Amino acid sequence: MIPLRQAVNIGRWAVPSIRCMSAKAGPLVDVAVDNEGYAMVTLQRPPVNSLNLELLQDISKSLDEVGKNKSKGMILTSSSPTVFSAGLDIMEMYKPDLKRAESFWRTLQDVWLKLFGSTYPTAAAINGHAPAGGCLLATSCEYRVMVSGKYTIGLNETALGIVAPRWFMDTMSNTVSRREAELALTTARMFSVDEALKEGLVDETATDKADAVEKCKKFLKRFERIPALARGITKQRYREPALNWLSANREQDLNEFMAFLQNPKVQQSLEMYIQNLKKKAAK
Ligand SMILES: CC(C)(COP(=O)(O)OP(=O)(O)OC[C@H]1O[C@@H](n2cnc3c(N)ncnc32)[C@H](O)[C@@H]1OP(=O)(O)O)[C@@H](O)C(=O)NCCC(=O)NCCS
Repeated sequence: MIPLRQAVNIGRWAVPSIRCMSAKAGPLVDVAVDNEGYAMVTLQRPPVNSLNLELLQDISKSLDEVGKNKSKGMILTSSSPTVFSAGLDIMEMYKPDLKRAESFWRTLQDVWLKLFGSTYPTAAAINGHAPAGGCLLATSCEYRVMVSGKYTIGLNETALGIVAPRWFMDTMSNTVSRREAELALTTARMFSVDEALKEGLVDETATDKADAVEKCKKFLKRFERIPALARGITKQRYREPALNWLSANREQDLNEFMAFLQNPKVQQSLEMYIQNLKKKAAK
């Protein structure tokens, strides 16, 4: 593997030096590091970057690489023009293969522990819809810039008849007030871009993806004069209660997820939700 800093610069971003390959579908995540040492991690699983096992495995590997190569910071974005990420792939949960579902959940836990707990600075350039797991990824970063448009962001799990795990809740409460988080989760609220800005769910809006990336980079540059060790530990101390909870309760959390999946009522809700998505797509 070529060290990230040796990447050759083309235009603003360097030639990607890491390509996380999926066995079947080609690169699902692209990591490119620019000549200043900032990594851009781009989700690219068409059509909507729904988080299936393979995409999560590639995100997990990408986060390891960004950490190992000591990038100055990371910007998370999507290659889709309208969707940041549609959240967890519903097909991983509907009539699941239980062994695969277990790996799926464990990998999601890994991704969150790595992203929420990273010592390097992180920002999300949200260039489209970010429901559920898309919102989780964005809120796990330290800063969010969302492209203006008819996009929405939020944790809508209850609308699907599923309960967002405690660490999803903790991530939301780390971003907006606890009361707003509780209201948003219980009502499955999807925020418009303007609402998200008003509530602090995103920090800035942008005219397009390039503008969002630029604003994220400006945020990351704030840390240039802050000693990295002190910064990283300070971030982790703030996030420690949530991180420690999941680290200490991974098996319990997995068991809850697996029990949910095997609940006929949950399967029924998922089936209805999938039918509605298909109907909408067919219109
Ligand atoms: C993200 C979203 C707003 C994008 O809207 P869009 O650009 O109009 O795209 P579509 O809704 O047509 O989706 C495109 C395809 O992806 C599928 N898809 C969308 N979200 C998906 C998900 N989370 N998991 C699996 N498949 C998904 C759709 O069923 C559709 O499949 P089809 O082409 O076979 O019909 C919309 O797809 C959506 O709301 N998805 C559900 C998000 C969600 O509730 N996630 C919670 C998961 S716990």
